[in-house]
Amino acid sequence: MSTLQLIDHPLIVHKLSIMRNKDTGTKDFKELLNEISMLMGYEITRDLPLEDYEIETPICSMTAQKISGKKLAIVPILRAGLGMVDGLTKLVPVAKVGHIGLYRDPETHEPVEYYCKMPEDIDKRIVIVVDPMLATGGSAIDAVTMLKRMGCTNIKLMNLVVAPEGVKKFAEVHPDVDIYAAAQDEKLNEHAYIVPGLGDAGDRIFGTK
Ligand code: PRP
Ligand code: URA
Repeated sequence: MSTLQLIDHPLIVHKLSIMRNKDTGTKDFKELLNEISMLMGYEITRDLPLEDYEIETPICSMTAQKISGKKLAIVPILRAGLGMVDGLTKLVPVAKVGHIGLYRDPETHEPVEYYCKMPEDIDKRIVIVVDPMLATGGSAIDAVTMLKRMGCTNIKLMNLVVAPEGVKKFAEVHPDVDIYAAAQDEKLNEHAYIVPGLGDAGDRIFGTK
């Protein structure tokens, strides 16, 4: 079964609280999401495998270590997931970035696919799917299903805020994919928005409302 790992470091909690405030504007919202993504990235990459290699320091030779084998791909779910990419690529600049375009139909709340472009070797990479919000879970479920169809076997999901309903549904469909989030909120409202949440993440990042 997927595990939900809450990354609730005080710096993350502090920054997320500012993001939740309706008076926080686009510039600050975007910057804070970027900073939180980097802080969460530190934890989500904790189990990246290392391998030994030989180097010469100015003093002597030594066996050093570098991140080995499987390389990383970051896959934002458009649009809002784009806000989490820069923070992660600052940590791992060689990571490739794939894009999945999905929007929620406003009536049915079901995800609708409109774009998909992946690195050619996506099936050989450790994939981190990023999206600030996991509400009903539909968008993340479809994104991971698409990646599995492409042959990906090592996938993690990184969200900012999740709803219990979405976590449950996601774990039922993709029990092999762990979820990392900064906070699990109370519930969904009648419009399938997370309560208390932070509103529409895409609109707040891009200033579209
Ligand atoms: C938001 C969010 C997720 C999705 C979560 O995107 O960024 O992708 O909703 O909801 P779900 O768990 O119920 O699927 P939205 O569809 O609003 O598109 P946007 O990022 O383009 O604004
Ligand atoms: N999408 C968002 O951007 N926010 C929510 O609360 C739910 C879905």
